[in-house]
Amino acid sequence: METTSAAATPGVETKPAQLVIRDLHASVEGKEILRGVDLTVTQGETHALMGPNGSGKSTLANVIMGHPKYVVTKGEVLFKGHNILELSADKRARMGIFLAFQYPSAVPGVTVANFLRRAVEAKREGYDPAANNEATGQVSKRKGMPPSEFRKLINEKMKILKVDQSFINRYLNEGFSGGEKKRAEILQMAMLEPSMAILDETDSGLDIDALRVVSEGVNALRGPRMGVLIITHYQRILNYITPDVVHVMHKGRIIKTGGSDFALELEKKGYEWLIGPEAAEEE
Ligand SMILES: Nc1ncnc2c1ncn2[C@@H]1O[C@H](COP(=O)(O)OP(=O)(O)OP(=O)(O)O)[C@@H](O)[C@H]1O
Ligand SMILES: [Mg+2]
Repeated sequence: METTSAAATPGVETKPAQLVIRDLHASVEGKEILRGVDLTVTQGETHALMGPNGSGKSTLANVIMGHPKYVVTKGEVLFKGHNILELSADKRARMGIFLAFQYPSAVPGVTVANFLRRAVEAKREGYDPAANNEATGQVSKRKGMPPSEFRKLINEKMKILKVDQSFINRYLNEGFSGGEKKRAEILQMAMLEPSMAILDETDSGLDIDALRVVSEGVNALRGPRMGVLIITHYQRILNYITPDVVHVMHKGRIIKTGGSDFALELEKKGYEWLIGPEAAEEE
């Protein structure tokens, strides 16, 4: 029986994992949305991605995760030094990338607990692009998880996120309030312990207390082993989760990058000074 974490994380890493995006262009239904994105997020760093509605933030998140609807027409996305654009979303998740969706979908008939259990097992199976043969689609062998171990892990995470026991016995996202959906996403993140987490508007729809709890949860997970890309419209969540770097996206490109104070400046001044009045209205 394998007991080391090295077995769960193929190819023990000595360097921090990096997500490197170069000149990324992507289209959806024939329309070019991403028009040359350059971005590097290193494990241990927190980056905030801001920008007007429709500028391409969620599209970028979906492309990084491998949503099949988006077609990459140019550029590259590397994770841990490997080109991940050819990999399925499932394999990217096994490598340690996690996306908390802006609009999580319901999974009727699957409880939160069962969903999380399978997700954690898949993550532990891992995926090593250097060791696996893409042509045969082979992935590492399935590793089950003893119920007692799962129980212990989920109880620990539920405590951190102040999630009630009854919550995990409900069907995933079915009839969940906006805030409950976001909490379920963060619980999933806590269980998976990704090395790169992308949070797409995790703060929207959260009441003040829930925002604090969720932010504290994210902060409890932050550290040298996790990179975070947090997509948000509001400075508010960045008061809790202080970013190292803040980017503004506009029309499918990152047009400006600054430090954590940059978010405060944006909150005060809006986007117009950066993108011009007509452009601001257009979006
Ligand atoms: N599946 C899709 N089908 C058609 N158009 C899409 C699709 N996904 C994104 N788009 C279009 O791409 C553009 C960028 O959308 P995206 O959701 O990435 O913006 P965003 O920056 O996340 O905006 P918001 O701040 O409102 O969440 C929009 O014009 C949107 O209509
Ligand atoms: Mg969006």
